[in-house]
Amino acid sequence: ELAMTLSQPSEERSIIIRFRVYNDGMGFRYEFPQQKNLSYFIIKDERSEFAVSDDHTAWWIPGDYDTQEYEIVESKLSEIRSLMKQSISDNASQTPISETAVQTSLQMKSPNGLYINIHEAACVNYPTMHLELDDSRMVFTSVLTPNAEGLKAYMQTPCQTPWRTVIVSDDARNMLSSNLILNLNEPCKIEDTSWIKPVKYCGVWWEMIVGKSSWNYTDDYPSVILGKTDYAKSRPNGRHGANNEKVRRYIDFAAKNGLDQVLVEGWNEGWEDWFGHSKFDVFDFVTPYPDFDLQALNEYAHSKGVRLMMHHETSSSATNYERWLKSAYELMNRHGYTAVKSGYVGDIIPRGEHHYGQYMNNHYLYCVEEAAKHKIMVNAHEATRPTGLCRTWPNLIGNESARGGEFEAFGGSKPFHTVVLPFTRLQGGPMDYTPGIFVTRLNTWSDNPSWVRSTLAGQLALYLTMYSPLQMAADLPEHYEKFDDAFQFIRDVAVDWDDSRYLEAEPGRYITVARKAKNTENWFVGGKSNENGHSSVIRLDFLDKGRKYECTVYADAPNAHYETNPQAYVITKKTVKQGDTLRLKQAPGGGFAVSLIALP
Ligand code: NOJ
Ligand code: CA
Repeated sequence: ELAMTLSQPSEERSIIIRFRVYNDGMGFRYEFPQQKNLSYFIIKDERSEFAVSDDHTAWWIPGDYDTQEYEIVESKLSEIRSLMKQSISDNASQTPISETAVQTSLQMKSPNGLYINIHEAACVNYPTMHLELDDSRMVFTSVLTPNAEGLKAYMQTPCQTPWRTVIVSDDARNMLSSNLILNLNEPCKIEDTSWIKPVKYCGVWWEMIVGKSSWNYTDDYPSVILGKTDYAKSRPNGRHGANNEKVRRYIDFAAKNGLDQVLVEGWNEGWEDWFGHSKFDVFDFVTPYPDFDLQALNEYAHSKGVRLMMHHETSSSATNYERWLKSAYELMNRHGYTAVKSGYVGDIIPRGEHHYGQYMNNHYLYCVEEAAKHKIMVNAHEATRPTGLCRTWPNLIGNESARGGEFEAFGGSKPFHTVVLPFTRLQGGPMDYTPGIFVTRLNTWSDNPSWVRSTLAGQLALYLTMYSPLQMAADLPEHYEKFDDAFQFIRDVAVDWDDSRYLEAEPGRYITVARKAKNTENWFVGGKSNENGHSSVIRLDFLDKGRKYECTVYADAPNAHYETNPQAYVITKKTVKQGDTLRLKQAPGGGFAVSLIALP
């Protein structure tokens, strides 16, 4: 570590630049000690520069103050400007901040094979950083998300900026196993963490995302006034997903298959008017629709060893959510909910604030800290992209903050998407990607023409390659029942690990990882590839010497293909030991999953 004090004698002020260097990279931040001539101040701008030595390949998404839900682009740095212009003219709804600004975490590869990642760690009470490329001299400059007045941050000493981080290695696997971002965060602030538990869950969700059922209970009310809409007098639309019968069916399914929780979205009043209106107070987060019996359903779930997962779509009205937060968490405590999925769809209220500005970054953390007081785990969607704060607040069990699995129902994502995210978005913390879609052609059961750009075996791989202590089995129970032999892997796979070994990796191409399930001798291996497929040779060196394992391989069939034949898979079983080799061929857009259960 090196701390340099920079003094401004004329004003009798000083700041510190602190560097920390690790085996896998470095971080630096600016610190503002408490001092006579510096107590309150405003950050008008931060211009940290990152000079790159060459025209690297980059995996990037456009800079945007409000969303990360973009397709990833792979290109040379010198091509960003023209590709960004193209993307702006193709997508009128998207609002990139400039022609050369990109988001972090930014993964690059130099022409001579060095992997470089730029991100930030411990973004607290500060706006999220983007990187603007000056492509005439190949230098990135930081761009902070502005507040409603165009300023960047209000500060009071003593304080500091987040760490600006660079991870470097000549081996792509080291990018994935690096803990640099977590190491630059503060240690855990929660004394008793025993209530924080990994969660495997299913939910009344995908059918709404696909458009088969609805979050709203009725179509009668184009405009909802909180507490003044009498749902008992409205006509049910007959498509409401979160109804007693359906939720019971999901609870039964979870209980039968060892899933911990059932997410239910659309359980609460207000969804008739949640999107695109001037919604200040549509949701109170405590009043269920008439066909959702909160108490009875929780009791039913608990009687079967399952919990319901709470859902709070804030529709980005941070003020309204903060007003209701305490009563919403108390309701969860009363009924035995331990986890909440929250969401921030739409424009932020207060108006003019951005999803990634200082105001909202403080809001997300406030919700997590309040949740900790109530022993509640939080998984926020559309929130700012993570910077390792889950080390300090491990009840921040997940985030979306990227283009998640839902986009497979909104036109699809490129097959290489999931073999880039672990290098970029996941550097800052786990992602609630929502894998496990078995029926990839959505028009076979709905009117949705979209389709999932992955094979079925590739979906299984994601439980390993997309690290998260929160994993959803996102498809419908009836779809899993049709492919029960493949669903066995989702039943078996752990969500909590003692050890992880990245066996092979290349950004945008393939990732293979072996993980040892917590407090067991069992291992699980997942491999995912892009649209070209990949041949993997896996040496089982990581197994215990002298022990035998029952090995079940869920692989793409030889003729599998993400577009033409996604459901072609082969399951094989054999006994293996340390030193054995598995040769597995991944189809285009495919993957594989392996369970290795230690034999007595
Ligand atoms: C977007 C989230 O990503 C999705 O999972 C959720 O279902 C909807 N918002 C509604 O809250
Ligand atoms: Ca989303």
